[in-house]
Amino acid sequence: MTNTCSKTLQEEIIRLKEEKNAVILAHNYQIPEIQEIADFIGDSLELAIEATKTRADVIVFCGVDFMAETAAILNPDKKVIVPSVDARCPMATQLPAELIKESKAKETIPFVIYVNSYASAKAEADICCTSANVVKVVERLDSDVVFLGPDANLAWFAEAKTGKRVIPVPSDGFCCVHKRFNVKHIEEMREKHPDAVIIVHPECDPEVQQKADYVGSTSQMLKFAKECDYNKVIVGTEIGLIDRMKREIPDKTFIPLHEVVCRSMKLNTLESLLDALEFEFNVVRLPEDVSERAGRAIKKMVRIL
Ligand code: 13P
Ligand code: SF4
Repeated sequence: MTNTCSKTLQEEIIRLKEEKNAVILAHNYQIPEIQEIADFIGDSLELAIEATKTRADVIVFCGVDFMAETAAILNPDKKVIVPSVDARCPMATQLPAELIKESKAKETIPFVIYVNSYASAKAEADICCTSANVVKVVERLDSDVVFLGPDANLAWFAEAKTGKRVIPVPSDGFCCVHKRFNVKHIEEMREKHPDAVIIVHPECDPEVQQKADYVGSTSQMLKFAKECDYNKVIVGTEIGLIDRMKREIPDKTFIPLHEVVCRSMKLNTLESLLDALEFEFNVVRLPEDVSERAGRAIKKMVRIL
């Protein structure tokens, strides 16, 4: 529920947004007060696509660093700003560009890079993917063996779904938020809510994915929740998605598999959003060559739709 102070901030942001011809893109994990005023809310893939469509002069990207970098790469002529420069995804740090070069020197197979990575790493990879399209991307590659990083759980998911060999790089890359879900949470929920369906994100450990009823990206989970016959849905991902589900699907019940919060995503606040928009600071800037080379891997992914 939005309080009076938040309402005033939201009104001021909306006024400035119109004045500056700006657009607010927000990830599904953003706080509800930001989701409420966003022009578009989505998963990583939807946000990347939306970033290619916008006619705005300024993109305020409410998510984490790698998402804003992707928007900046796809929009070299626009100003992309972020509410908080500290909103960094800890998973992205696990795949330095050097590791990709080393892997490719050992074996000449395609390197699929999860969008949760830095532009400098994407510049060394062959094609990008998100959790929503990883299966499609791996299937389309003309090779039965591929590298995929930095998330080893997503690599496991891609291997299970495609039947190809998907080598994780690094071997143990992970999301510290989704790591917190375990099989015990699923067993307890099944016992407590036998009438519910359990859905989880592919960043969860393989044993968790195997015990769930559905595995998908955040927006795929939202779609599943809207369309499924179940009235009670247990959700295994960051709490922000549940805020969106409750707002958009008020007639169903949503229960967190376990309450987990991505602290990086929560660093964006209405206050920091207003400051960034008003003064147009925290502009995302990348070296031109990195942007150009990372752009190739991202655009290759966007074309596979
Ligand atoms: P989605 O692309 O599914 O929204 O996931 C992004 C993410 O960071 C999950 O932790
Ligand atoms: Fe990164 Fe995990 Fe947060 Fe997603 S939930 S932004 S992968 S730390």
